[in-house]
Amino acid sequence: MQKLIINGGTRLKGKVKIGGSKNAVLPIAVAAAILGDSVSVLHNVPNLTDVKTLSAVLEGLGASITRKNGSLYIEPINRMEYEAPYELVRQMRASIYVLGPLVAKLGKAKVSFPGGCAIGPRPVDLHIRGLEQLGANVDVKKGYIYAQAERLVGVDMDLTGQHGPSVGATANVLMAATLAEGTTVIRGAAREPHISDLVKFLNAMGADIDGIGTSVLTIRGVKQMHGTEHSVVSDDIEAGTFMVAGAITDGDVFVEGITQKQIPAISEKLTEAGVQLDWKTTGVHVTVPKELKAIDVTTVPFPGFPTDMQAQMMGLLSLASGTSTITENVHTDRFIHAAELNRMGADIRLEGRKAIIQGVPFLSGAPVMASDLRAGAVLVMAGMAAAGETTVSRIYHIDRGYESIETKLNNLGADIVRVNEN
Ligand code: EPZ
Repeated sequence: MQKLIINGGTRLKGKVKIGGSKNAVLPIAVAAAILGDSVSVLHNVPNLTDVKTLSAVLEGLGASITRKNGSLYIEPINRMEYEAPYELVRQMRASIYVLGPLVAKLGKAKVSFPGGCAIGPRPVDLHIRGLEQLGANVDVKKGYIYAQAERLVGVDMDLTGQHGPSVGATANVLMAATLAEGTTVIRGAAREPHISDLVKFLNAMGADIDGIGTSVLTIRGVKQMHGTEHSVVSDDIEAGTFMVAGAITDGDVFVEGITQKQIPAISEKLTEAGVQLDWKTTGVHVTVPKELKAIDVTTVPFPGFPTDMQAQMMGLLSLASGTSTITENVHTDRFIHAAELNRMGADIRLEGRKAIIQGVPFLSGAPVMASDLRAGAVLVMAGMAAAGETTVSRIYHIDRGYESIETKLNNLGADIVRVNEN
C-alpha cells in the first residue's frame, strides 16, 4: 500500500485543469458496452482505478475496451456473458450499473450484491424495485442478484427513496428503459450533472429521452442503439475539491474546465464562507481576501449541496472563525474523516447526522488514514494547510476518484511525495 507525505504551509498558486467526471464516465461506459450495437468512443476519460475496475467488469461480460491518450474505445459485448462476479463488484459499487442494461439487452443478469462501504450500508432496493416495475423478475440469493425478463415494458414509476432520489437507481432504470417496450416515466429521478451527461450520451446512441436535468425523465423505448462519440462532462466534485484546496491554503488558484451552472450550491456555500470566486468563461479564480467565516451546510441531492463535497467543506470550516454545522442527509455514516481531522487539531463534535465545527486558528500535521475517497481528499487538503508533516495512508481510496492528486497539487506549489508503506 502507498501513502502521501505532505509538508504543509504552502499557499497554492497557479492553474489546474479539471478532468472528466468519474460518476458520469462509469454509467456511460456501461451503456456503451452493453446497450450499443457498435463501437463508442469516450473522450476526457480520467485515469482512475474505478475506470480500470469497471473496464475489467465490462471485458468480463465480453466487451473489448482500449484506452488511448485520455479516450476509451468501447466495442460492445459480443458474447452472451451476463454475470458480474463478486471479486470485481466488491471493489466498486458502481458495477451494479450493469444489472439494468444486461436485462434489457440479453433478458437476464447475475450481479453480485454490492457490499456496504465506509459511508454506510448502500442498499440497492430502489434499483431492484425499478426493474421489477419494468417487468423483470428479480431474485436475491447467495449474495447475487438474479434478474430476467422476456421483454421489459415501460411504466410510469416513482423512484424516490427514503433519502430522496437515487443517482444509481436512476441510472440503472433509465438505461434499462431505453430498450423497453413503450414509454417509461421515472418520477423522483436524480438530477446530478452526471445523470444529465448520461441522458445526453444515451440520446446520442439513439435513445429517446425527455426531461434532462429534471426529476421527471420520459423514455420512449427503441429497438436498438448504436455507438457514438462523446466527451465526458468535467468532474464537479474534483472541481469543488481543488477550489477548497486553493481556499484552505489561502492561495490564488484558477480552476479550469468548470462552469458555475455545474456547481451552483458549491459556489454559493464557498462564497458564503468568505471565499472569493471570480467566474470566467473557462473556469473560476479562487482567493480568500479576508478570513473564512463559519456557515451552516446541509447535504441534499442536486441541485443542493452535494454529499461528495461534505468532507472537503468540513476541512475548510475547521479553519473558519466561529462555529459551523454540517448536516449529512444523504449517507448514513459519512463523518469518519472528522476524527482524523481532530487528530490534526480540528475541533469537531458529532451529534447524529450533524457535525458541529468550532473553528481553530491552525491545524498541525499528523499521521492520518483515508477511509473513503472524499475523506482521503480532505486529509490531503488539511495536510497542505497544516504546519508540519502529515502522512495520509490507504490512499488507494483517493486514487479511485482523483487522477494523480499529488501531481496536480504539486504543480500548484504543494509539497507532497507518494511513497510505499513499508
Ligand atoms: C452515487 O452513489 C455516487 N457514486 C456517490 O459518490 C454519491 O455519494 C451518491 O451518488 C449521492 O450523490 C457514483 O455515482 C458512482 P444514491 P449511489 O443511490 O448511486 C439511498 C463518490 O464520492 N439508497 O444516490 O450509490 C442510499 O443509501 C461517491 O464519488 C437507497 O435507499 O448513491 C443513500 O442514502 C460516494 N436505496 C441515498 O439513497 C437504493 O436502492 C443516495 O444514494 C439506492 C440508494
